[in-house]
Amino acid sequence: MKQQRENFGSRAAVIMAMAGSAIGLGNIWRFPYILGEYGGAAFILLYIAASLLVALPIFFAESVIGRRSHSNAYGALRKLAPGTKWHWAGILTIISPLLILSYYSVVGGWSVQYLFKSLSFDFTTGSPEAVSSYFGNFISSAWQPVISHTIFLSLVAVIVLFGVRKGIEKFSNIAMPVLLVLIVALIVYSLTLPGSFKGVTYLIKPDFSKLNADAAAAALGQAFFSLSLGVGTILTYASYVKKDENLIVSGLGTAGFDLLFAVMAGFAVIPAVFAAGIEPGAGPGLVFETLPFIFNQMASQAPVVSSVVSIVFFVAILAAALTSAISMLEVGVAFLTEEKGMKRAPATLLLAFFTWLVGILCSLSFGPMKDFHILGLTFFDFVDHLCSDWLMPIGGLVFTLFVGWKMKKADVRDELTNGGTCNRMIYKVFYYLIRYVAPVGIVAVFLTNLFL
Ligand code: PHE
Repeated sequence: MKQQRENFGSRAAVIMAMAGSAIGLGNIWRFPYILGEYGGAAFILLYIAASLLVALPIFFAESVIGRRSHSNAYGALRKLAPGTKWHWAGILTIISPLLILSYYSVVGGWSVQYLFKSLSFDFTTGSPEAVSSYFGNFISSAWQPVISHTIFLSLVAVIVLFGVRKGIEKFSNIAMPVLLVLIVALIVYSLTLPGSFKGVTYLIKPDFSKLNADAAAAALGQAFFSLSLGVGTILTYASYVKKDENLIVSGLGTAGFDLLFAVMAGFAVIPAVFAAGIEPGAGPGLVFETLPFIFNQMASQAPVVSSVVSIVFFVAILAAALTSAISMLEVGVAFLTEEKGMKRAPATLLLAFFTWLVGILCSLSFGPMKDFHILGLTFFDFVDHLCSDWLMPIGGLVFTLFVGWKMKKADVRDELTNGGTCNRMIYKVFYYLIRYVAPVGIVAVFLTNLFL
């Protein structure tokens, strides 16, 4: 079935859409706790290196494939390498985003619940003890988080079902700048909390003794997660980018915003973590334990402001999470409608149902299923590690090898320099990174994951 393919109207629209997918819970929820687990400042440096040397080249590789083919991930590889088996790898990129969505939706559900709690002023009027113990009680209960996960995923499915890209895009055009402003305000506030200074030291004074192969793998996994790589999302979005658009500039813009949001979230959360006496290595609950603490503390000085800030903040997090979640579901829906001739509605519902079931297991793994372990990890952690340590990098490896070794160099050059009219120097650097550095980096991380 041939579908009418659309284009993004302007460079700003391309960056906004890609940034909408990239900036999400990965920046605000995942980055601060991974940072906390791997020792702070030194990890930030590792993360920047992984982003520049491996993640960004893969971002460009996906962009090249997407815009060259104007197809979904699976169709693209078939179109650009007809008669080969490359497109089989496209199947992987249909499954991985759904697996990611299954646990992403659980965390998205937590933000739904936290928004309800903010709306009922529970964080700003409750006692500090009640606020700090809330997270643990909430996620370990059987039903509440599953209901929140269901609400979040339903929102995602409804948006994808109606294809209201314009609505959500306009929404995120407002929500993202609001989020940015709020994060700056939170950084300022969190730096004024007594005891927060230790957190700043933690973020700016690198302790290289914490750096090991495990941290390198985590940095790369986080870079993949944050830039939505290796799962066909960037590829699919790039397939809507016009021929005269500068792919390198849009990619650098997206990656720059993504990094900015992550580092700022780190500076908003980690100093407050120290002030609250929470362990920086506390894991997935870190942000959800810290933010209510900040709001609760603020309430003693400015109750109205802190209530409003907490509501707006969770609305903005939810919006950021939704724009990312939609891009995950869209990859599979694009595949089923373009390649299998399915209608949009059944395709969306089928994939959402599968995701919902897996998500329930992820959610229960904080409570009733917490003793069920796979390879020593809870189900939630297992799916998270499977996706960010393996499936995303494998997808990324396929894309860099495809662009670096399978596609004609002239075609890659044509895409990245718009027919030789721009970026000629920077293209050379990235071609080298795509061909050699990124694949070697990924394989090195695989080997350390397997043998260390
Ligand atoms: N990049 C998104 C985030 O940071 C997550 C994501 C992963 C989105 C994979 C799409 C595909 O929240």
